[in-house]
Amino acid sequence: MHKLKKMAPVIELKNLVKRYGNLTAVDNVSFNVDSGSLFGLLGPNGSGKTTIIKMLTGQIQISGGVARVVGIDVNSDPVGVRKEVGIIPEQESPPSFLTAEEYLFFVGKIRGLSSIKEESDWWFSYLDYGDKKKVLCKDLSRGTRQKLMFSQAFIHKPVLALIDEPLINFDPIMQKKVKDFLVSYVEKGNTIFLSTHILSVAEEICNSYAVLHRGHLLSCGLVSEITSGGLHLDDFFLSLVKGETEC
Ligand SMILES: Nc1ncnc2c1ncn2[C@@H]1O[C@H](COP(=O)(O)OP(=O)(O)OP(=O)(O)O)[C@@H](O)[C@H]1O
Ligand SMILES: [Mg+2]
Repeated sequence: MHKLKKMAPVIELKNLVKRYGNLTAVDNVSFNVDSGSLFGLLGPNGSGKTTIIKMLTGQIQISGGVARVVGIDVNSDPVGVRKEVGIIPEQESPPSFLTAEEYLFFVGKIRGLSSIKEESDWWFSYLDYGDKKKVLCKDLSRGTRQKLMFSQAFIHKPVLALIDEPLINFDPIMQKKVKDFLVSYVEKGNTIFLSTHILSVAEEICNSYAVLHRGHLLSCGLVSEITSGGLHLDDFFLSLVKGETEC
């Protein structure tokens, strides 16, 4: 597990609510994420993780409460938030009609990069997919599309990246590379906010966490507060969620 160094909130959620019709998907959730965190948002299927990431990145409207990301109120300035952060959504794919290289150039232009070729070549090399540069995104494998989504999220070196399930489509070699990248990225003073079902990964790389269940926040804090007592994150998670389910 990576140690937390800095202590200023880069994300603040206060009484955050999201309703889809009659369903309250996120119910009065409050927590902060400090700058320099590698933060893991944990929770069973349907607990509200993706909904929170979508609200924090201005992809959906907040029903109640406040969310501030890099000091910006996401409800009043969602574009301002998206300018500052990197995002890997849960299900998005790069556009089918562009090649991998064209897509990174396109994102680099939007992000105002002056060194698009250098940055994209670095990513093609680091994630080992330079041979796919000229391939249309529709013809890339799922894992390679995920490499491209990863590259676009970090190409402008954002101070904060929000990633919905970063490792899900990667083979073990890529998982290791991506984990190493995330840890070193945070060591440079940036912040990562990720959701994951892979609790061993959260325990390995995250320094802070929150557990959601049916839209409610069950627990949040430092991973070391759990593991220093000899407990593993998966046992902690299962006991928390099982307790809730039985209530
Ligand atoms: N657009 C939508 N319209 C209606 N209900 C939605 C919508 N998006 C999500 N939901 C519901 O909100 C709840 C939370 O969904 P969400 O996708 O945030 O969960 P999650 O924790 O990301 O789950 P998973 O681990 O399966 O990705 C679920 O009950 C889901 O069915
Ligand atoms: Mg999800």
